[in-house]
Amino acid sequence: MAEMKLHSEAAVGARYGRPADPCAIVIFGASGDLTKRLLVPALYNLACDGLLPRNFALVGTALSDMDHESFRDQMSKDIRQFTTRDAFDERVWDDLVRCLYYVPGNFEDPATYRRLAQLLDEVDAKHQTRGNHLFYLAVPPVVFSLISRQLGQARLTDEEKGWSRLVVEKPFGHDFESAVSLDGDLRQHWQEHQIWRIDHYLGKETVQNLLTFRFGNGIFEPLWNRHHIDHVQLTAAEKIGVEGRGNYYERAGILRDMIQNHMLQMLSYIAMEAPTSFHADDIRNGKIEVLKAIRPLTPEGVLTNTVRGQYSGGTVDGNVVLGYREEPDVSQTSHTETFAAAKLFVDNWRWAGVPFYLRSGKRLPKRSTEVTIQFKGAPEVLFRDTPVERLEANKLLFHIQPDEGIELSFQAKVPGPILHLQTVRMHFEYKAAFETTRGTGYERLLYDCMIKDPTLFSRADLVEIAWKIAQPILDVWSSLPPRDFPNYPAGTWGPRDAALLMERDGLEWRNP
Ligand code: NDP
Ligand code: BG6
Repeated sequence: MAEMKLHSEAAVGARYGRPADPCAIVIFGASGDLTKRLLVPALYNLACDGLLPRNFALVGTALSDMDHESFRDQMSKDIRQFTTRDAFDERVWDDLVRCLYYVPGNFEDPATYRRLAQLLDEVDAKHQTRGNHLFYLAVPPVVFSLISRQLGQARLTDEEKGWSRLVVEKPFGHDFESAVSLDGDLRQHWQEHQIWRIDHYLGKETVQNLLTFRFGNGIFEPLWNRHHIDHVQLTAAEKIGVEGRGNYYERAGILRDMIQNHMLQMLSYIAMEAPTSFHADDIRNGKIEVLKAIRPLTPEGVLTNTVRGQYSGGTVDGNVVLGYREEPDVSQTSHTETFAAAKLFVDNWRWAGVPFYLRSGKRLPKRSTEVTIQFKGAPEVLFRDTPVERLEANKLLFHIQPDEGIELSFQAKVPGPILHLQTVRMHFEYKAAFETTRGTGYERLLYDCMIKDPTLFSRADLVEIAWKIAQPILDVWSSLPPRDFPNYPAGTWGPRDAALLMERDGLEWRNP
């Protein structure tokens, strides 16, 4: 019997929890980008923290012609490039790499699944993985339904010997209708409890902390409503462009790629009511209630409350970069948006009248994801006859990445006999407060799937509601092609209209 050693058993304890349940993970798309950049490094990190089960195996499958040994060699090269840890632990990797297997094959060919089933039998026996199988779809969305069906036909969906789970990557559908149809396809072979829809933003510690910060501290929650909050800003800015993913991006655009999923997930954590418990369904129901309360945009509303943009060539960090239309696999007349901003309202008792401004863009000057809670200002009457011209309102800032932390800004008196105020900040930094190692964001999600905790995974109803929010925007944008694309140079904060969206309300974006 082959067992993984747990080199860091000391780490398994109060802080990290127990190792996950014995299982074999099958990665469809094992020769692809997601596998080498994020999934395998995440599994390696779990192994370093003693969280992978002792009885574990990873079976990769893809079209590329490799055998077990060449797959192990390839992964051994890739992990050294993509590990998120500063010090590479050869012993942990040596143990992990022995648990790696590979099945070449076309996903359209039933023989691929027969070979897979046979290998899984051998692996289950050798690694004592108890017939528990986690199938991860790290593949282009066009083959999601196909693989799900073929797994069903090969009876790999059965849960007689052990559990069988299907992890589906984003994008989950292309619009509302295709999401419903994809869900219907999956449900023909899998039950809802077997389907795990992943959104890697939910794996980020700082996103998870939004909830614990709100509900684990007594002082903020009483202020967390329309009486005290003026507006909320959510920004997900990226410096990178489409990085060779032109084929995918041309059909997606940033509304589908970032806003419909990652940003609405963050918004739901900011706006949800206190759940009754941390149980998966209590949290997921709370998020759904928020998304259901988002006021649907009318076609006129789309024109006034959303902005789209596409980058032209420019300079990022002093380097000259291509415009979106010059990127590989992108049309020279592309209408795909690489920037989007929207003003939304959560029409419920807590949030009535409080605008939520969302924006995301590629090729912006900085990589930064953050949430700003802008409180209402204090009355200025007391300062009327003083040199203080205006009182800055308090801001609470959640730095989701890269410099994870939380910041509260407030007014302080500048020392001296004359009354002057200055905005100062109380700053909490994760890296100063905790001993953390940088992860990929996938560790927690893979672990949770192995221990059957679906809290951070999306239920079908949430995905569909999120599409309903995005759908009117998609409809108007596709029926009215943009006339001004490209409309922002790479290395700037997006099109002028994005600034106007805020200026019209007497506000401005907080540029990180
Ligand atoms: P890649 O194009 O890099 O990889 C696709 C993989 O699928 C390859 O291993 C390819 O095999 C395999 N494949 C495709 N079609 C077939 C087929 N018919 N038969 C056998 N193998 C096939 O994609 P990514 O890894 O970038 O993305 C995978 C998924 O993850 C997508 O849904 C994407 O949206 C999502 N995702 C990706 C992220 C990323 O950072 N890359 C981030 C978040 C989500 P081969 O190369 O051997 O032909
Ligand atoms: C992915 C998108 O889901 O998220 C990418 O497909 C984007 O286009 C990425 O770059 C951003 O993730 P992160 O974790 O780097 O903010």
